[in-house]
Amino acid sequence: MAQDIGKIEGRKRLAVFASGTGTNASRLIEHFRENAAGEVVLLVCNKPGAGVIGIAEKAGIPVLMIEKERFKADGYVAELKAAKVDFLLLAGFLWKLPSVLIASWAHRILNIHPALLPKYGGKGMYGERVHRAVLDAGDVESGISIHEVDEQYDHGPTLFQARCPVLNTDSPESLAARIHELEHRHYPEVAERFISRS
Ligand code: GRF
Repeated sequence: MAQDIGKIEGRKRLAVFASGTGTNASRLIEHFRENAAGEVVLLVCNKPGAGVIGIAEKAGIPVLMIEKERFKADGYVAELKAAKVDFLLLAGFLWKLPSVLIASWAHRILNIHPALLPKYGGKGMYGERVHRAVLDAGDVESGISIHEVDEQYDHGPTLFQARCPVLNTDSPESLAARIHELEHRHYPEVAERFISRS
């Protein structure tokens, strides 16, 4: 069945960039496994030993391990082009993308951020730090942002946000769990709409 779908003309080829646990990468892989809009054909990862590597391997998806100096210099554009990648989906990838990569996939790169941008974005704002900042500020709501990627951290046009309450009993961990649920629910659908635009 999956093989038949793979032959559908126009099915977009997706590279997921992730270097963490990979729960969002896993949802993206699953979502696009039997989906006519696209398929995940590559995982790009900069962290040896990251949980996401095992997820990709188990799903039979090739993993491209990258190294910082070369990434900054040429963005591994040759490897991505060789894999005929149409869109890049960032899901827990912390390095800034080099200009050459952004230029080559202009308006075809998405990121997910665990807060309501433009609040709590920018260099160094990831993972627990984001949730701790939200709690320290006394915000009563947080959420997720899915946005196009440009040359600044967490900065391109926001395509989608979803909100959730922040409880006064929350720890960074409990807030992170609520946010992860939103991410898992929405990222695959938003990514599908994004790659299906004409
Ligand atoms: C997510 O919270 C995402 O918003 C951020 O990195 C985290 C990755 O989590 N960009 P996981 O590895 O997908 O569980």
